[in-house]
Amino acid sequence: MRDAAPQTIFLKDYTPFGFQVQDVHLTFDLAPNATHVTARIRFAPIKGAADKTFFLHGENVTLISAKIDGEVVTPKVTPEGLTCDVPDMPFTWETEVKIDPAANTALEGLYLSNSMYCTQCEAEGFRKITYYPDRPDVMSTFTVRINGPHGTLLSNGNPVASGDGWAEWHDPWPKPAYLFALVAGELIAHRDTFTTSEGRKVDLALYVRGGDEGKCAFGMQALKDSMKWDEDVYGRAYDLDVFNIVAVDDFNMGAMENKGLNIFNASAVLASPETSTDMNFERIEAIIAHEYFHNWTGNRITCRDWFQLCLKEGLTVFRDSQFTADMRSEPVKRISDVIDLRGRQFPEDQGPLAHPVRPESFQEINNFYTATIYEKGAEVIRMLKTLVGDAAYSKALDLYFDRHDGQACTIEDWLAVFQDATGRDLTQFKRWYSQAGTPRVAVSEAFENGTYTLSFEQDTPPSATTADPQPQVIPVAVGLLAVDGSEALPTQILELTEARQSFTFPGLAAKPVPSILRGFSAPVVLDHAADHAFLLAHDTDPFNRWEAANKLARASLLGTITKGSAPDPAWLAGIAQLLNDDTLDPAYRSLMLDLPGQSELAAQLHRDGHTPDPDAIWNAVHGLIQALSDTMADTLPALYAANQVSDAYAPDAAQSGMRALGSTVLNLLTRQDGGDQAQAQYGNADNMTLQLGALANLIRVGRGDAALAQFEAHWKDDRLVMDKWFGLQVGTAKPDDAADTAKALTGHAAFNWKNPNRFRATLGALAGHHAGFHAKDGSGYTLLADWLIKLDPVNPQTTARMCSAFQTWRRYDAIRQSMISKELDRIAATPDLSRDTTEMITRIREA
Ligand code: BES
Ligand code: ZN
Repeated sequence: MRDAAPQTIFLKDYTPFGFQVQDVHLTFDLAPNATHVTARIRFAPIKGAADKTFFLHGENVTLISAKIDGEVVTPKVTPEGLTCDVPDMPFTWETEVKIDPAANTALEGLYLSNSMYCTQCEAEGFRKITYYPDRPDVMSTFTVRINGPHGTLLSNGNPVASGDGWAEWHDPWPKPAYLFALVAGELIAHRDTFTTSEGRKVDLALYVRGGDEGKCAFGMQALKDSMKWDEDVYGRAYDLDVFNIVAVDDFNMGAMENKGLNIFNASAVLASPETSTDMNFERIEAIIAHEYFHNWTGNRITCRDWFQLCLKEGLTVFRDSQFTADMRSEPVKRISDVIDLRGRQFPEDQGPLAHPVRPESFQEINNFYTATIYEKGAEVIRMLKTLVGDAAYSKALDLYFDRHDGQACTIEDWLAVFQDATGRDLTQFKRWYSQAGTPRVAVSEAFENGTYTLSFEQDTPPSATTADPQPQVIPVAVGLLAVDGSEALPTQILELTEARQSFTFPGLAAKPVPSILRGFSAPVVLDHAADHAFLLAHDTDPFNRWEAANKLARASLLGTITKGSAPDPAWLAGIAQLLNDDTLDPAYRSLMLDLPGQSELAAQLHRDGHTPDPDAIWNAVHGLIQALSDTMADTLPALYAANQVSDAYAPDAAQSGMRALGSTVLNLLTRQDGGDQAQAQYGNADNMTLQLGALANLIRVGRGDAALAQFEAHWKDDRLVMDKWFGLQVGTAKPDDAADTAKALTGHAAFNWKNPNRFRATLGALAGHHAGFHAKDGSGYTLLADWLIKLDPVNPQTTARMCSAFQTWRRYDAIRQSMISKELDRIAATPDLSRDTTEMITRIREA
């Protein structure tokens, strides 16, 4: 049942629960349509509590019986939960409820995926399993008994005992209900062990469906690397005797950090060279690390309420980015993160869905697992570390773990450890948590009598949640280069705190060239008429050198779009030289060619007062790539040959860097040879990276039909590979064909739309195809809206997330706006629309 008028929850209304939960015992009698859950919970009223209401959340659960200290009671039950009169002293609460996992298509609570039982409880899914105070500040130990005819029966913590058709688990670490997990099914374990720095021998297992055994080794190694890294870098050791990971096919998100029992979307953990790309391997390594790192940042120290989500997610994203930088390449990781931030977080922060890193209100918490909470949340921590320095950061983190272990905390607690460890006043810095919007920083320069002056102006545009943004603390990493390219002044951190501020650098022989915002030291839009061609050739900061290429490409594209000008020869020459510079890491060279995203260009055009035309943007991007291909025509075959790996496939940074550059070059080469090299690569490929890269090129030049058919015939039984087959066809379609291609694929027998991966592979690819989604005839809008309306009653969470495709609608011309507006109205008018989707559409429309 859906709420008639959705309720808004406010941070300022926080009140603690009036009862302590001493322990929880759960018994599951599993059956697909009628699983019985018995809960025995010891509650103790908290003396002097402001709110003494005994309210337990519960949704889609049928109450069979309730008892207090063995006596039957009759609670008052509503669709959201129950209330009951309870004693003013500790008591034992017992309920039996019935739930229907087979009917649970929302994939929240207990559900079935290919006849395997599994759970997803974050944020508020536990209430679909049994009646409980389902809020993160209520923490307890759990003991779980599972009865079911299944081979593998798993829950959190350590195994206690098991027999034929049953198993018992005990988790000694108090945890909120959102970290509860249960899995039951016919699974195969890939096992290993890890001995912690404290001498604890931990049994590790990765559980998968039969047939997937060969895709476990990489994930297991990533887990062991993560365990070691968290000990070495943060001094955090694992705290149970087992660590289990389960791969499931139907999962709304990437993965979930349930205590001792992480549950992963199969796509985020299963990998083999034949079926996974280098990018898949890298993502898997990062997600395994991320979920593992939550054991300390999220589980041992959790969130007081969901407004504090960035406390665990921002910090854990920051930690996993440090891990990836250590395992692979720091500059490459930084550049990739900034591409992602600009591609996903900036549009959010600059549109109708803008919200602070710590929001102050929400209707549906599932809608707040956003790029802002995650990626901007991680950037805020990165800035904090830059401002206080590495040693103080470590000291503050040690204090955080010491002081707050076992607690449910707030951003105030987090900032207090930094204040206490460093003596620094973070009052103004805290605005990063309360203000939405991307600050713009404009820079001007002056040089007089040997003194160089940099003047900054910061300004954050108002947004839906922040009417009047105040100046923020912005760490700006700056280095000065001499005209010969040597470093006149190594990197320093300038701290902007005012709306306008100047910094002087005396004693310089000549006017230097500044390199500003090195390493992307703050998540801002920098407005500076720099000498990008000079920086592309000389900057000693690898991020800013890449940024210079990006800025040149951007300017060239904008010139083509708005004035029809030819591609910038400085960019063409600079890139041609860099791509052939063997002293540079191939992965880095390949990123040099990563042009600004088409949606990002649309945003920039909009900021500059133009109305973006998606077809013109598409043509400009393709024109620029063609021009580079023509410029480099003679050197491409040799560069391609130099970046072929002869050793056996390994998904490591060195090999994947070569393949990334090889693939970049193949894209250019295909524009010269019409796809001959791509055809050869497709035929010879012994790994998915090369196979998929070749196939994309073949499709683009109209030679893909045979290969697509061969690919489908060969991979039809591999779900994850078939997701690529669906996604690639939409992603490589010409703008006018993208919606038709997606539509045809939704009619394919293998288009299982209730599976979030398949749905996203097809319709998410359409939403990500800028010119295709925004095709003039509105076909992209209509197709996506049709499918969102169809998916909503089945899976509101995945539907709501994909609504964000429409968030940028105000940028476009009147005709497109009116077409989108019609689709938004149509979605909003759907009877019984979920709370999730209603909130998203309302926020997007009210822009
Ligand atoms: N705690 C989240 C998973 C989650 C998100 C559960 C939303 C419920 C609702 C998990 O730690 C997470 O953040 N996963 C990310 C991947 C990660 C590498 C950023 C995901 O699933 O995308
Ligand atoms: Zn997370």
